[in-house]
Amino acid sequence: MKLKVLVEEGIYQRSLADFQQAGDIDFVPAAREEKALAEQVKSSQSAAVLLATDKYTGPLYDALPEGALIARYGVGHDGVDKAIAAKKQQHVTITPGVLDVSVAEHAVFLMGALARNIAGTDADIKKGGWLKSSGIELKDKTLLILGCGMIGRRTARIASFGFGMNVIGYDTAELDAEQMRNEYGIGKIAASLDEVLPVCDFVSVHLPSIEATRDFIDADFISKMKPSAFIVNTARGGVLDEAALYDALAGGKLAGAALDVFKKEPYEPAQPQKDLRKLDNVVLASHLASSTLEASSRMAQCVIKNIRAWAKKDYNSMNIVTE
Ligand code: GLV
Ligand code: GLV
Repeated sequence: MKLKVLVEEGIYQRSLADFQQAGDIDFVPAAREEKALAEQVKSSQSAAVLLATDKYTGPLYDALPEGALIARYGVGHDGVDKAIAAKKQQHVTITPGVLDVSVAEHAVFLMGALARNIAGTDADIKKGGWLKSSGIELKDKTLLILGCGMIGRRTARIASFGFGMNVIGYDTAELDAEQMRNEYGIGKIAASLDEVLPVCDFVSVHLPSIEATRDFIDADFISKMKPSAFIVNTARGGVLDEAALYDALAGGKLAGAALDVFKKEPYEPAQPQKDLRKLDNVVLASHLASSTLEASSRMAQCVIKNIRAWAKKDYNSMNIVTE
């Protein structure tokens, strides 16, 4: 019998060709919203789901059997409650190492968009204008990589070896200074944020969204940055206080920000009077840093590998996350 896997509709469309090639697995399009998905799980008696980035808080785990597979198409697993899943021995997997290039390139493009006001001039010309905007070069600017996991490192590599930026790394885990320098061009590892924030021209955020990183970039963090500096977030909306960012950008305390991720997606400001869409010094993208042909295909292959290993109970071959 074919393995049946319920797949969030958007992912199903995005990776249909790859899914169809896996003849041993029956991928079935499914709802994104938790209650509707849970109903589908029950009616189809499915034991495996493939999820987007949304939050799944309860009904899904109840609907799935013990030992089920909860697979993510991507690396962020903040939407999945690992503690609830563990109670039913449900396995949670991600697709690490296959989207780093896409996300890192996107982070660098957003930096470039900020440096040269690409979105602003584009919007102005399309309205009939001819805005002349003076930008800055990336070369010799100081970039702080906040979170030096695989994506952060890849971003550092492009920024330093490609653009000649001075790259500083920050991570709560201990980093191998020599490896960071030689392989990723991270010339310095920050001992504390207080020391490096005042000298950064750009901060690129690559933190996971966990309790300890909630609103990590808040008013206090931003107040330590130069008013001429920029923030790029391709990680998760949870790590950034959007109201504080709005205040800083509107009040001239920060030069600009580019966001690919938001607390609520599609983006909606928590406070309507602090709507980032109203600001000219903000570049917005719709959570698409990993949405490339190449990353999508590799994510699909990684998911297929995880499903096959799960079916064989070969748990060591799966990309399991537990916390
Ligand atoms: C991408 O990772 C998505 O969940 O759509
Ligand atoms: C994308 O957001 C991911 O989690 O990979």
